[in-house]
Amino acid sequence: MSSPAFSSPIRTISKQSSLKLSLRAVCHETPLLPSASRIRTAMVDQRRTAFESRPPWKQRVGEFPQARSVRHHSTSDRSNLIPYSSRLKEGRALAQDVWSIFNAANLPPDCLNLGQGYMNFPPPEWVREAANEALHDVAPNHYSHPRGRIRLRNAIKEFYGPQLKRDLDVESEILVTSGANEGQYSVFTAFLEQGDEVIMFEPFFDQYLPSVTFNGGKPVYVPLHPPSPDNAKPTSGDWTLDVEQLRRAVTCRTKMIIVNTPHNPVGKVFTRQELEVIASIAEEFNLLVMSDEVYDYLVFDGKEHIRIATLPGMWDRTVTVCSAGKLFAATGWRVGWLIGPPSIIQPTLAASTRIVFCTNSPLQEAVASGLEQAAERKYFETQRAEYAERRRVLTDAFDRLGMKYAMPEGTYFVLLDISSVQFPDDYPFPPSVQGRGRDFKACWFIAVEIGVSSIPVSEFYCEEHANIGEACARFSFCKDLGTLKQAADRLQGLKKYVHRS
Ligand SMILES: Cc1ncc(COP(=O)(O)O)c(C=O)c1O
Repeated sequence: MSSPAFSSPIRTISKQSSLKLSLRAVCHETPLLPSASRIRTAMVDQRRTAFESRPPWKQRVGEFPQARSVRHHSTSDRSNLIPYSSRLKEGRALAQDVWSIFNAANLPPDCLNLGQGYMNFPPPEWVREAANEALHDVAPNHYSHPRGRIRLRNAIKEFYGPQLKRDLDVESEILVTSGANEGQYSVFTAFLEQGDEVIMFEPFFDQYLPSVTFNGGKPVYVPLHPPSPDNAKPTSGDWTLDVEQLRRAVTCRTKMIIVNTPHNPVGKVFTRQELEVIASIAEEFNLLVMSDEVYDYLVFDGKEHIRIATLPGMWDRTVTVCSAGKLFAATGWRVGWLIGPPSIIQPTLAASTRIVFCTNSPLQEAVASGLEQAAERKYFETQRAEYAERRRVLTDAFDRLGMKYAMPEGTYFVLLDISSVQFPDDYPFPPSVQGRGRDFKACWFIAVEIGVSSIPVSEFYCEEHANIGEACARFSFCKDLGTLKQAADRLQGLKKYVHRS
């Protein structure tokens, strides 16, 4: 494979281009060229790291006196022989994540799972048939090209090209990844230098945080402001962005901004005006925009999903992130893709190739078939109507309870205000929710007493702002109607625990 052309106007992993347009340079906080002493320190650091990363038996005593002494271990305690990387200490990677706490295995067996955002129904039959066919063929059972199988790249070109108003080049502008997650991780690997700042709107999809910190980045949070308490019937659109706050968050180290529309967990569909403001800030400060659009086909009430890459000047600095898991009810298939200019896709390909090499081949064929047939089958129109009905069943249940929520204009999540739910202080909560936000306890209580699980929203905030999220629980409606109706009935049992001031 030829080495990618790092010709981005955005600061890429190429040192030269990083210096050229760097805002840091404009700010004069970091000199354009490193000083000699900085270079010496960097070289010593590099040698130290190389020395210390060798196994003890390959470290010659005295070879690098500044380094920690050769590691010896006690033979009595063998429980922690090999120290793990300090990178795991960042980004909450070691904390018990919310998904394992509110996992079906920990909850009563008959608890209805409206917690984690995966469906309890399979992908469409005609897409599964295509998967089956691919498994019976030879080539799709083997490695695909790291860019993705050509049939899928062609299908993506045909499907997204008109929406992005571009004749997409399947060789340099599309990259198939192992789900949106791996695609995003690869972008961070390809573009972040140690200490680069990445702006994300809070609440944020929890995976961003460790993916940024593992790659040396520093998350910077800009809040989405919840609807005013006086708003009796808010929608997700009433969660607002303060443009001045966003502008103030940009520093000399800002490299990237993550936009997630439709937004998990809020359900907000960013308006054209909001995206234009974000675009102008990205343009002014030369930022890469990662536009996470995995819920692009789940937008309701006549709202329009706008792709920020289509705004004037934005194609060159935007990578659009998509997920077959959400499109085809196939979250376990781990197929996603990135679309963007060669200056972003090519370095990301270099990273992705070393991380996973390629994505599973047979399911790429099936997803290709899904995209090829979607229009003729009116698949996305039907799916949208089905999700709108699922949303109605759940939100009607909240209305009957008299509990407040923000009607989601996109995604398959609803945020319910649980601040009025009262539970006994001495309730037997497990250690996993002790010491976490009030919402962890409320969600646990609702799951055990009512039999419907949800996800505490403080998990989608950084520690300092977790209290903002404590007012809400996230309920997913990516479940069949029968399950949602049963959940709706059970939820009426909450009435006796709701305390109105
Ligand atoms: C906002 C957002 N981005 C990315 C992902 C990851 O998508 P995938 O399953 O394709 O990796 C999710 C999954 O829940 C998500 O909610």
